[in-house]
Amino acid sequence: MTFSATIAKTLRRLLANAHAPYSGVHVAAAVEGSDGALHYGVNVENAAYPQGVCAEASAISAAVTDGHTAIARIYVASSLPGLVWPCGGCRQKIFEFALEGCEVVSLGPDGEVGRQTIEQLLPLGFRLEPGEGHRT
Ligand code: THU
Repeated sequence: MTFSATIAKTLRRLLANAHAPYSGVHVAAAVEGSDGALHYGVNVENAAYPQGVCAEASAISAAVTDGHTAIARIYVASSLPGLVWPCGGCRQKIFEFALEGCEVVSLGPDGEVGRQTIEQLLPLGFRLEPGEGHRT
């Protein structure tokens, strides 16, 4: 089995843990750190809709919690047919930690695999150097 097929299998299993009673759309994501370690997340919706968290954001939080702040690759799978790609807000969240050329890998339910770099998904993304926002 290829590496992405193994991750696809894990993400398919994790879809069951998504908390998505409002949209019914289950999403799971895995962040691959620069050391190859994987950090997982699922979408966690809330009755107060804007408080919901996307799977990518959950996975990024898990990675940062484990001390990994460099994303080499991020994998996404969902309960929808075909390939899903991160929402605009998650593209910015990925960009914050993305190594140059960071790949977003979308894993479809029938074995489809799509690959885009974060730069393709978010051209001219916003970045600040630490402390830069304080300078006048
Ligand atoms: N969602 C994600 O978790 N990641 C995506 O890339 C797209 C959308 C979630 C948000 C919401 O819980 C549900 O999918 C439907 O939008």
